[in-house]
Amino acid sequence: MSINSTQLVQILSKINMIMEEKKLYLSELDGAIGDGDHGLNMSKGFKAVEEKIKEEDSSDIGNILKKAGMALVLNVGGASGPLYGTAFMKAATCVNGKSSIDIVDFYNMLYEGLKGIKQRGKSDKGDKTMIDAIEPALEELKKGIESKEDSIKILEKVKESSLKGMENTKNIIAKKGRASYLGERSIGHQDPGATSSFYILNTIYEEVKKISK
Ligand SMILES: Nc1ncnc2c1ncn2[C@@H]1O[C@H](COP(=O)(O)OP(=O)(O)OP(=O)(O)O)[C@@H](O)[C@H]1O
Ligand SMILES: [Mg+2]
Repeated sequence: MSINSTQLVQILSKINMIMEEKKLYLSELDGAIGDGDHGLNMSKGFKAVEEKIKEEDSSDIGNILKKAGMALVLNVGGASGPLYGTAFMKAATCVNGKSSIDIVDFYNMLYEGLKGIKQRGKSDKGDKTMIDAIEPALEELKKGIESKEDSIKILEKVKESSLKGMENTKNIIAKKGRASYLGERSIGHQDPGATSSFYILNTIYEEVKKISK
């Protein structure tokens, strides 16, 4: 697998489309345990990402991801904007100056991105957040690379484990964000941030599969 900057822009643009498509659903999920704005936050954020990147026209993947992260931080009021923004900016630091990336780069990006979310959010796995859809994906990515599997197969397993992590957020009590005010009443509800994280990882899989054909 090798993804160049044009293809990365294509993937980000597809993420924007998916967030627009899932806007209502994500806000509905947030309405049940939060303030009902997650869909709006994500669609606003990734629209800003798409616009920013179009005007940049850079072939440096690190630069593209940095600009994407900044657009998320600057344009999203909610907790998720700064968290996703930090993740993109941290991911950017692994690929500065590169015009193409491979699966190992992606591992490093996701590793740094997740670390950034945990630091910024003072949160960890099991808090019923986006982390619960990202950490299992990162573990699967590591396993796949270590056993030298085909990159597309790895990305498929990555999104599958993210899906499971997302679904598992229904079974746990929220410890961070507004949802934590509900305590035990947050059980039974799927975390909106874990859901948007799954959509991002799923879109990466779908798009890379298309590109690699
Ligand atoms: N401290 C945190 N660490 C990691 N993820 C978090 C944290 N706080 C919230 N989240 C994630 O952000 C999502 C909510 O994002 P949203 O766009 O609705 O922002 P918000 O309304 O400001 O958030 P919140 O109400 O959770 O503070 C949650 O579903 C959760 O996945
Ligand atoms: Mg919200």
